[in-house]
Amino acid sequence: MSNTQVHGGDLDIISRKYSIPKEEIVNYSGNVNPLGLPETVKAAIAENLDAICDYPDVSYLKLRQSIAAYTGAAAESILVGNGSTELISTYIKTLAPKNSIIVSPAYSEYQREIELTGGKIELFPLLEEENFVLNLERLKRKINDDTDLVVLCNPNNPTGSYVTADRLRNLLDCLKEHNAYLMVDETYIEFASEISKVSAMPLTHEYNNLFIIRGTSKFFACPGLRLGYSACTDSGLREKAADFKDPWSVNSYAELAGCVMFTDTDFIKHTRELITSERGRIKNELSKISQIKLYDTQSNFFLFKLLTDKITAGEIFEKLIAKKLLVRDCSSFPFLDGHYIRFCILMPEQNDILIKEIKNILEK
Ligand SMILES: Cc1ncc(COP(=O)(O)O)c(C=O)c1O
Repeated sequence: MSNTQVHGGDLDIISRKYSIPKEEIVNYSGNVNPLGLPETVKAAIAENLDAICDYPDVSYLKLRQSIAAYTGAAAESILVGNGSTELISTYIKTLAPKNSIIVSPAYSEYQREIELTGGKIELFPLLEEENFVLNLERLKRKINDDTDLVVLCNPNNPTGSYVTADRLRNLLDCLKEHNAYLMVDETYIEFASEISKVSAMPLTHEYNNLFIIRGTSKFFACPGLRLGYSACTDSGLREKAADFKDPWSVNSYAELAGCVMFTDTDFIKHTRELITSERGRIKNELSKISQIKLYDTQSNFFLFKLLTDKITAGEIFEKLIAKKLLVRDCSSFPFLDGHYIRFCILMPEQNDILIKEIKNILEK
């Protein structure tokens, strides 16, 4: 497997390939909150180790109520899953879209899942010359009566670009006219400075051709827990999706954690302050390097383009991993070539190390 085929989270594969113990790798590729698991979640699990001796509540009522209070979505519109990945897969299998459009480059699972159902996919390109910001008018021109589904990641992985919810209304109206759905993956939404402007969650009360997928892996630093959730007010689609899902795919610890993490306001505040301040500082530092172009981000990661042909993203990846620093070479993403690197925001000292190494490599 080449480094370009590896998911951001595939630390074990990198560890084996480069013979570096996993614990020694600084992972700027996983997009996970550097503060780690909230203490409140650790305590809740530690105090309830026996929770796995019972089945979780098959209706996940308390968990869904906790998510509803956190997101403002209606509890009955919520479906929980084994990470956001299970919900992406379930909703796509349920819809089995014949013709879908994926705003791209984006997280690879949407394409993989639609391909598995045998549907046709059009990748709608975010353009570099538009700084990867979605051009809604251009997207709307692609939508017709054959379209079943549009997939949008917001804020988008790997570009960090985003679209505000008020602009999505127009897209939803257009999709409604053509009997098509919009799936929005908001996995990175809590890192955005103005969540209330970016999140489409309030629109679930108005549009039943919208479903939103979210995870907890990144913001609450728990990718191993596998807890995701979705909101959809089309009861027909949601109930069919629920039928497709395994009944207890969210385990008792994830159920317990989900009833605690969303009320941990100190952790949420601390994370948002850290990411906002580091995002500004990193932007400032990297903007001084003339050989790269850095894109605006509302997430906890940055994408940059190499403006030089003297070195490729793959070569930078190799130089950094030799120092046990893992970034994402983005050449496997559609519409990105060997000039793009993504890295996530970690603690200030770790961010300083990466900035220094990038400067060293490019200034040689
Ligand atoms: C945009 C996006 N959606 C979903 C996922 C998967 O997250 P989860 O761990 O919740 O399945 C990722 C993981 O990298 C991602 O980047």
